[in-house]
Parts: sequence; structure tokens; C-alpha cells
Amino acid sequence: MDINHTDLEYLLKEDLKSCNKEHDLLQVKSKYLGKKGLLTSLFASIKKLNQEERKKFGVELNNVKNTLLLLLDKKLDSLKVTNQSTIKIDLDVPPRHHNNGSHHPISLVIKRIENIFLKYGFDIHDGPEIETEHYNFESLNIGDNHPARDMHDTFYLNNKLLLRTHTSSVQIHAMENSAPPFRVLAPGRVYRCDSDPTHSPMFHQIEGLCVDTDITFSNLKWILNNFISDFFDNKNIKTRFRPSYFPFTEPSAEMDIMFNNKWLEVLGCGMVHPNVLKNVNIDSKKYSGFAFGLGIERFAMLAYQIKDLRVFFENDINFLEQFKNIRLS
Ligand code: DAH
Repeated sequence: MDINHTDLEYLLKEDLKSCNKEHDLLQVKSKYLGKKGLLTSLFASIKKLNQEERKKFGVELNNVKNTLLLLLDKKLDSLKVTNQSTIKIDLDVPPRHHNNGSHHPISLVIKRIENIFLKYGFDIHDGPEIETEHYNFESLNIGDNHPARDMHDTFYLNNKLLLRTHTSSVQIHAMENSAPPFRVLAPGRVYRCDSDPTHSPMFHQIEGLCVDTDITFSNLKWILNNFISDFFDNKNIKTRFRPSYFPFTEPSAEMDIMFNNKWLEVLGCGMVHPNVLKNVNIDSKKYSGFAFGLGIERFAMLAYQIKDLRVFFENDINFLEQFKNIRLS
């Protein structure tokens, strides 16, 4: 049966109705426009016609061709839209690998120390890193001529403000802001104008302060000995307290621990100097206290057997990745 070119539009529309995939569409397209397609063979029949008929028929066939192409394009667009909305999501596909970072060893050590002292009823305090001489020195009984005031140690921002050289300044903020008893733990960054393999211009300290009635040096020794055995998870670490000097404690001591058969200094401590209590209007006849301060990098080096202080500040991914599976809790 010969097909009339004027029927092609209708026939194509019928065929398109049953097309659900792009693949079906390609087959329909080739049924009409392929090498042996219906329209193609009508084009081929042109040569049987005379000159005048050819011209007329050619124009008609081209019009039909354009109509068919348009219909095919429209159908293709509508298939794309419906297929997009029916894309199936496979919920069983494993997720792409997500590279979690690690906590910095300094953060890990701070958290570990905080957790130990939380157990003993200490509260965590924060204090400003930009301080006045009053908080960093004077109120801590560090007189004008004390070597810690030397410009070589302290970063001055102007003649009033400086970067705190120790976390001891937080003792003063804590005591000013409420009334005894106090059990304060203050971790944070401190700054000193010093830089070599064992010193960094910025490092971390933790300050401890306990003020109450009847606090004695024995309380200090008890808590610090317990802290050391908790931190290193070893009840048999030997410790000793050597007399020392700090302007804000009297008496003062340094605590050493036995590590690899050597005595190693780990922190400074002492009984809060009555002048410090007086500076924050606490009656030193009624209250007494102890304080201690330690360098966090030193504890991190011991805990993770790190030999060079500088690795803490380089943030080398290979170094940090080693701490990936250690949780902050
Ligand atoms: N602030 C001292 C320092 O930076 C450390 C220190 C020593 C803190 C003795 C104290 C203390 O609270 O009692 O070297």
C-alpha cells in the first residue's frame, strides 16, 4: 500500500504515543527518516515525476519533513523531563569516602586535663589574651622590677596593653567575679617573645586555682599527684616537689615526675600569696588557696612522645592524621 505524504504527520503522532524511552524514539525516527524510511522513499520517488511536479512535490515533502522533525524534537524534550523526575535513587549505594579531620594534639591534651579536674569539682574558665599590666603582673604580686616584666619576654601592644604571658591572670578575673570558694581551671594561649626549637612565641598553659577555708599544701600535693597518675594512666609514676619561687605563691614549688629514669620538671605551683588574695578583696585570714600552672605542649610531648615542639604549630597533615582516632572526651 502506498502511503500518502499528507498522512505522515498523523501516522507519526500515533507512533509517538507509545514511545516511553529515547531508544523507542530513535526507532520511530528511523521508520520515517531513516535510509529506508517512509518519507525518505517518497523523496526517492521524486525522480519519477516531471519537472513541474517535482518542484511542487519537493516543497510539500520538505514541509512534511520539518513538521516531523519538530514533532520528534518535542517528544524528545518531554521524555527528558519525565525521565529526570523518575530517576531511581539507590539507597544501598555506599556513601563516598568523607575525609574527617583530626583533633589537634594540643586540644586533645587540654580536654584530657579538663576531664580530670572536672572530676575534682573544678570549673573551666576563660580569660582575655590581651591584658593590662594590672592583671598580668601587678595583681599577681609581680612588682615593677620583676624579670618577667622585661620587654624581652612580653609582647606589648602599646604602653597599656600586652599579650598575656601566662594564664595566671585568669586567677584574678575569676576571683574578682565571684566569692570564694573557688575551684578554677583555665586553659588558654599565652605569648612570650621567644622562639627556638624548645620555645614558641605562642604556647598553651593551664592554670589551676583552689581557694577555700583550710586549704593546705597537702591538698595541693594530693590533687597534683592524682592528676599525674590520671593523666599518664599510671599510679606508679614517682613525683617530687622542689622548693621554688613565684611572686604569686608562698611557699612555691616545682613538681617533677620520674620519666624514663630521669626527673623532669612539669609544673609550677604553691600556696596563693596573701597579697594576691588581698588584691581581690579576699580575707587571707579566713581563706587560703593553692595554684598551679603547667605548659600543655610539655604534657603533649610526654603523652605522645613528641621530641620537637615546632610540630604542634606547623599543622602538617601527616603529623595531624596520627591523632585521627583519638576522641575528644
Ligand atoms: N605562671 C607561671 C609561669 O608562667 C606558672 C605558675 C607557677 C602558675 C606557679 C601558678 C603557680 O599558678 O602557682 O611560669
